[in-house]
Amino acid sequence: MPDSASRRKYRFDDEEPVFARRQQRRSLPAEDFYDPIDGLPEGDRWSTWDLPAAGDRGPEPYPRWLVTELAAVDTELGVLKTGKEADVYLVRRGVPPSGPSCLLAAKRYRDAGHRMFHRDSAYREGRRVRQSRDNRAMAKGTAVGRQMIADQWARAEFAALCQLHQAGVPVPYPVQLLGTEVMQEFIGEADGTAAPRLAETRPDPAELVRLWRQLVRSLTTLAGLGLAHGDLSAYNLLVHRGRLVMIDLPQVVDVIAHPRGAEFLDRDAANVARWFTARGLTADLLNATPPGHPDPGEPGRPDGGAGRADPVPGQGAEVPAPEDLGYYLLREARLA
Ligand SMILES: Nc1ncnc2c1ncn2[C@@H]1O[C@H](COP(=O)(O)OP(=O)(O)OP(=O)(O)O)[C@@H](O)[C@H]1O
Ligand SMILES: [Mg+2]
Repeated sequence: MPDSASRRKYRFDDEEPVFARRQQRRSLPAEDFYDPIDGLPEGDRWSTWDLPAAGDRGPEPYPRWLVTELAAVDTELGVLKTGKEADVYLVRRGVPPSGPSCLLAAKRYRDAGHRMFHRDSAYREGRRVRQSRDNRAMAKGTAVGRQMIADQWARAEFAALCQLHQAGVPVPYPVQLLGTEVMQEFIGEADGTAAPRLAETRPDPAELVRLWRQLVRSLTTLAGLGLAHGDLSAYNLLVHRGRLVMIDLPQVVDVIAHPRGAEFLDRDAANVARWFTARGLTADLLNATPPGHPDPGEPGRPDGGAGRADPVPGQGAEVPAPEDLGYYLLREARLA
């Protein structure tokens, strides 16, 4: 029996004694042993949960909704969005035929030659790799250099998601990093409808204030860590059931180390402040709206930060008005 077939069997045949399985594993694997689509219908692949190195999986404890069974299959359900540098796919990871399943968003950075890294040079000032040969390859834009850049962006985004998730900032849970693919929690409905971007929403005044308070709290945490999003706008914030989730984080900027750190922080603040101001947020509206409800959490998600009612920075009387956000964050980052 070819090993690829026996791999399939391990996953489904509970009757097989452990001893027999060990015996088989000792033989050399067939060439297609790691073929992720072996034996599956077109468009499916075995769950890749077992492939990333230990550090390239999301922080523990793993959320309860995440399917970690190796017998799971990843089914690509379609493209959520194609972007300039990456495409985001909707993936269902589930144990066939009717075991547990969850929806994931797979953000795949494009391979060499298929994208324009408009953000590269400015952000790279703050992120040098050790080998100068690698730096030269990336600067020259050779195929190898571009591939390395794609890997780096994916790695940078995964690391930022992990750090911010750990710090309690509402970001998609980072499931795994595999080469140029960042697999993350899908923010949206169970039927696969993605949460709208903030830019696509028309919140009423009370909702506007609630969203602003959440945003200030997230940005305060980032600034406290010495970080700026680096490309923040109403397009990189999703609104899911009243909860504001920050996405698209490969270019997170270390505002202390980066020579133009303060500039990035200021620009992020100005971008989002402009959107909220245009929607009618003013200092008066903020003052007139008492911080009533705790932030919405995510039902059934233990990591969702549900119902956090304790006083936290960015929530309460001292929430800055849109025009004061830049200075407020510079102070939080100790840059002003
Ligand atoms: N975790 C997620 N859950 C649901 N939808 C997502 C998720 N991540 C990304 N998306 C959708 O895909 C879009 C693109 O994602 P993202 O902004 O991370 O990639 P991008 O390549 O930088 O795109 P752009 O160039 O448009 O900024 C988002 O605007 C959002 O609509
Ligand atoms: Mg984006």
